[in-house]
Amino acid sequence: MKPILGTCYYPEHWPQSQWQDDAKRMRELGLKVVRVGEFAWSRFEPKPETFDWAWMDQAVDVLAAEGLQVVMGTPTATPPRWMLERYPDMLAVDANGHPRKFGSRRHYCFSHRAYRDESARIAGIMAERYANNKHIVAWQIDNEYSCHDTVISYSDAARLGFQQWLENKYKTIAALNAAWGNVFWSMEYDSFVQVDLPNLTVTEPNPSHCLDFRRYSSDQVVDYNRAQVDAIRAHTSVPLIHNYMGRIVDFDHYKVGEDLEIASWDSYPLGFLVDRSGADDDWKRRFERQGDPDFQAFHHDLYRAVGKGRWWVMEQQPGPVNWAPNNPAPLPGMVRLWTMEAIAHEAEAVCYFRWRQAPFAQEQMHAGLLRPDSEPSAVYPEVESTAQEIEELGEVRTQQAKVGLIFDYESCWAWEVQPQGEDFDNFALALEFYRGLRRLGLTVDILPPTVSDLSGYQLLLAPGLMSWPEGLLDQLENFSGVALVGPRTGSKTTNFAIPPSMPPGIPSLDCRVNYVETFPFGSERALENGGAVRTWLETVETSENVVEKTSDGTPVLIAKDKLYYLAGWPDADALVRILEALSSNAGLSTTRLPEGVRKRTTASHEFVFNHNAFEVEFEGEVLEAASAHWKRLII
Ligand code: GAL
Repeated sequence: MKPILGTCYYPEHWPQSQWQDDAKRMRELGLKVVRVGEFAWSRFEPKPETFDWAWMDQAVDVLAAEGLQVVMGTPTATPPRWMLERYPDMLAVDANGHPRKFGSRRHYCFSHRAYRDESARIAGIMAERYANNKHIVAWQIDNEYSCHDTVISYSDAARLGFQQWLENKYKTIAALNAAWGNVFWSMEYDSFVQVDLPNLTVTEPNPSHCLDFRRYSSDQVVDYNRAQVDAIRAHTSVPLIHNYMGRIVDFDHYKVGEDLEIASWDSYPLGFLVDRSGADDDWKRRFERQGDPDFQAFHHDLYRAVGKGRWWVMEQQPGPVNWAPNNPAPLPGMVRLWTMEAIAHEAEAVCYFRWRQAPFAQEQMHAGLLRPDSEPSAVYPEVESTAQEIEELGEVRTQQAKVGLIFDYESCWAWEVQPQGEDFDNFALALEFYRGLRRLGLTVDILPPTVSDLSGYQLLLAPGLMSWPEGLLDQLENFSGVALVGPRTGSKTTNFAIPPSMPPGIPSLDCRVNYVETFPFGSERALENGGAVRTWLETVETSENVVEKTSDGTPVLIAKDKLYYLAGWPDADALVRILEALSSNAGLSTTRLPEGVRKRTTASHEFVFNHNAFEVEFEGEVLEAASAHWKRLII
């Protein structure tokens, strides 16, 4: 597929007289696709059941006249004020029991059935109106589920919905009591209506209760999204998209993705480095104006999996943003690098957020491609030349990677519910394994826990999986490549209890986790072969081959043939060393890349990126600061 560039445009923010010129400049810049509409409900339906579509009809016409394709957004992330008059109880409620008010966005509770119906209603009306408009090439449903912490809600609607969900799942209250172990602390219930939401308890609530509430909350997002899918699908079959976010794990993206044709995500590398990469201060300083070298790539690969191969960057940071604690400008070259990197990970489109900086309201300090006065912003020439370069790049052909990394949302919830050590975070664990693979120059596929076909993979990593996904153990027994599982994989039943056979529960591996230690004060246990284990160390009993141990003899890496169990969380050095050895066993060739340099190979191209703010020598070539390099492997 030949990648394209685009932007996010809000015609309702600008006088109609400006639209024509905007569209012309977009085309001249080399953009092909424009997303509109996703926050405009108060202009589509200013009063209940009173609609005004004329302005959007006109905006789509103006864009189309310049040959631009349109992605139409449903405006359901911004219910208008009148909606609250209709449904004063539609607001999400925080863990302290306070409703989250009107005055920004995403002020709705996913469990509120009437709001779900209102969302399906507006989506259906829009789809009907624009179904035959051939310029609308895709629909975006809602905007960034979970942004601003909006999936978990402790509302009455959520409580009632949860009780029903539990009854559907367990059928009898006795079954729920047994599954959750409610005999502990006399937590037994007599009926489902007694089960409250797990907030405001005196001390920690039952982890099984919390995990089921997380599953319920995730299911509400899936159902909410599906209501709009069904409403739109009644009128059109163009692809449906959602724009996911960085490091959001509150709902199962794979399940939402099953109902959509394309996944997309919103990539803000500098904001993410500061507020969600988890990096230490030295790393943050080093990549302050470039972003973490692996964080974006991880999400590219994750959302490629969520989109079953099809994915976009729906919003790409083009300059300083407004929402991180501090907001530096990208180094010259980084917007090109981010764009090319997304394409290297097989993105079909990269859209810059936003076309013109808004001079009003919350995001007035957020850069766009144009300044508020319509002059080009600093990044404009870089986008212009990137658009030309993409023409030269041609079609980027996709291929399955040789390395797979399983990433599971349910395990994220499980380890948030019961981390055991405050630093144990499933996303961070997956990102570190991913980073280790990338430091070795490997190209990686992220896989859902439901992966049904491992053929073609030579190395498979499954860190941190709470319980064994159905069928995965059988697949591992027959896997011809090298597999690394753990730490913590298989350590709970699906009800959140320790399995009777003790973790990790791999029938062919004689290995049992006896107990677990987590380390305070950032302390660590040195490994005999170099590096150390941090955060998490299991004490295992095993008769298998011990490949790595701590300097006081505790087994850390256990192997039987090509199956490895990792009983701790290695630091970066140890992880790279271990992954290098496993890759070599798997017949994969690796190169230790200079720090900040990353590679990706597709069926048609090889890409190399220097994320550093200084030049680096690599394979006989000088890579300038903040630069992207590519070569065609086939013409
Ligand atoms: C995204 C959001 C956009 C805009 C942007 C600012 O999270 O989808 O609407 O707010 O952030 O960086």
